[in-house]
Amino acid sequence: MISFSSLEELRRRKSEKWRRFSADVLPLPVAEMDVEIAASIKSALIDMVERSDTGYLGLIPELGSAFSSFALDRWGWQVDPIRVRVAVDVGVAAIEVSRLFVNPGDRILVNSPVYQNFYTWITELHCEMVDAPMIEIERDGIRTHRLDLAGIERAYASGVKVHILCNPHNPLGIIFTREELSTIADLAKEHHVLVISDEIHSPLLYNSKEFVPFLSLSDNAREVGVTVTSASKAWNLAGLKCAQLVSASDRIESKLRALPEAVHFRTSLFGAIAAVAAYQKGREWVDQLAQELDRKQRLLNNLLHEHLPTTYLHKPFFGYLGWVDLRDSGLGDDPGKELLERAKVAFNSGHTYGPAGKGFVRFNFGTSDEIITEAVNRMRKVIGV
Ligand SMILES: Cc1ncc(COP(=O)(O)O)c(C=O)c1O
Repeated sequence: MISFSSLEELRRRKSEKWRRFSADVLPLPVAEMDVEIAASIKSALIDMVERSDTGYLGLIPELGSAFSSFALDRWGWQVDPIRVRVAVDVGVAAIEVSRLFVNPGDRILVNSPVYQNFYTWITELHCEMVDAPMIEIERDGIRTHRLDLAGIERAYASGVKVHILCNPHNPLGIIFTREELSTIADLAKEHHVLVISDEIHSPLLYNSKEFVPFLSLSDNAREVGVTVTSASKAWNLAGLKCAQLVSASDRIESKLRALPEAVHFRTSLFGAIAAVAAYQKGREWVDQLAQELDRKQRLLNNLLHEHLPTTYLHKPFFGYLGWVDLRDSGLGDDPGKELLERAKVAFNSGHTYGPAGKGFVRFNFGTSDEIITEAVNRMRKVIGV
């Protein structure tokens, strides 16, 4: 049921991942997968094209209902369908919400190394970025990371207005505990901080029950939080352009009423219909995909362990993005650049996610086993020789 396209087929794709590099490069950056999309989504889109239903997006109550039913079924999270709004993508959702809470010059908190566009969103808002970096630790024999809650408290107390929380965390591949998230909610309430919980990767947890939606936590979380999410990562629909923006308290809801109407109308009808199909009919598909990705992260880990023992994959708990430590592999601070130039394999360079990303790459393993294996083979050409 889950099928990944062949390299020949992928080279015909028109997306950024497959157009950015020349044909001699194997491209594994850009967070999109090489999977064939779910049949239910495909048929919903084909049906629209066949009927020339290619106009603007208007009322779309079925999206709120579909998301609400999905969230309840998966995480036991009760979402009021009328509090599910749309925006063209998660970036626009986060920026438009932030605009209601910040003025230029205000401070916005992130936890680096983190999804690099959080920085561009803050620049677009003319705000100042504040960082409470993740802390690298060892737990149960594996290298992982945890939030610096004391650092977050200090940042909140220093006057931060918004905290953009990557929940679960890209690129580190970790999920947060109920306790960590509750502490954030309580601190945010105390210091009047808006928490924007970016949950775009949440449907792809290998064990779906472990994910804690921020707004499901407590009254405090609902008072301070907005969730931005999308079907675009988990069902591979990024080009279709539709994100969801969820609120769960009267306080936040009254602020969101000031969002420009255009935030809704700029969203794509195709994206919205695809999201409805994903949340309603793509549940089994996404569970199978998550299992398949879990197998792939183990394959990647084994390949690196066997052939490139100086490298270390930080075990991901969801999705298709692997945070690979190459600090002991002799490729310097930007191994991504070296690997592209010398091995013709492209990854995202770790330093673009924050200073602690120096010496790392983000490896997109949402592709066929053959391509994963070929990428590691290419890495072998320049590591350990
Ligand atoms: C954490 C996170 N948020 C947002 C996005 C981008 O979402 P969108 O294309 O809907 O803006 C990504 C893409 O990789 C991501 O990893």
